[in-house]
Amino acid sequence: MRVLHITDTHLFSNESSVQAKVHYEGFINSISYFNENRRIFNVDHIIVTGDISHDGGTLSYKLFFKNMDKLSLPHAVLPGNHDDIGNLDVAIKVAKNAVTVEQLSSASWALFGLNSVVPGEDYGVIRKETLYKLREGLKGTACENIAIFLHHHLIPVGTPLVDVCKLVNADDLLNICHNGRVRFIGTGHVHTLFQRKINNILISVSPALCSQ
Ligand SMILES: [Fe+2]
Repeated sequence: MRVLHITDTHLFSNESSVQAKVHYEGFINSISYFNENRRIFNVDHIIVTGDISHDGGTLSYKLFFKNMDKLSLPHAVLPGNHDDIGNLDVAIKVAKNAVTVEQLSSASWALFGLNSVVPGEDYGVIRKETLYKLREGLKGTACENIAIFLHHHLIPVGTPLVDVCKLVNADDLLNICHNGRVRFIGTGHVHTLFQRKINNILISVSPALCSQ
C-alpha cells in the first residue's frame, strides 16, 4: 500500500487577500504536480491531516474537495485546529472520494485516524474516549503493521512557536502505541518536515502544502 500524506493547506473562503492567493496557488500547483507525476508517485490513497481551511468557512472546503476530486483517489481527511469541524463534516459527507482513514486499511496495514482538536485552542488533546477506542481497535486487529494519523505533533520539533501547541497528552498516545506493531504516526501542524524514530515507530511530520 502506498499512501500520500499531505497536510495544512490553509485555504481561505475569501480568495482576495495575498495570503489566500498564495495558499490556493500552492494547493492547486501541488494537485497538478501530483497529477502529472502520478505514475511515479504510484499512490493508492491520500491522507490529509488537517488545517484544510484557515478560516473554517464553507467555501474553503468546497475549493479543497473540488480540487481533490481531480485526483480520482480515495482520500481521508482529519480536522486541524483551524478547521470548523461542523463545516468540514458537511463537506466530507458530499465529497465524491472522501473516506475514513480506517476504510483505507488493507490486509497488511491497519490505519487509524484520530481527532486531536480542542475547539478554540491551538494545542491538541486526544480525548479519553478516543484513546479507549484506539486501544480497542489496536487489540482488535491482527495486522502486523499499524499506522496512525492525526493533526497535532507529538514530540517537540525545536521551534518554540509550534512546540507550545503540540499534542498535550502525547505520552498517553505513545504508551498505547508501543506494542511492536505500530510503525508510523503521521501528523501535520508544524509546517516543516520532521521525522524521528522512537523504538519501532517512525514519528513523521509532513510539511504543509501552504507556506512553511
Ligand atoms: Fe494546525
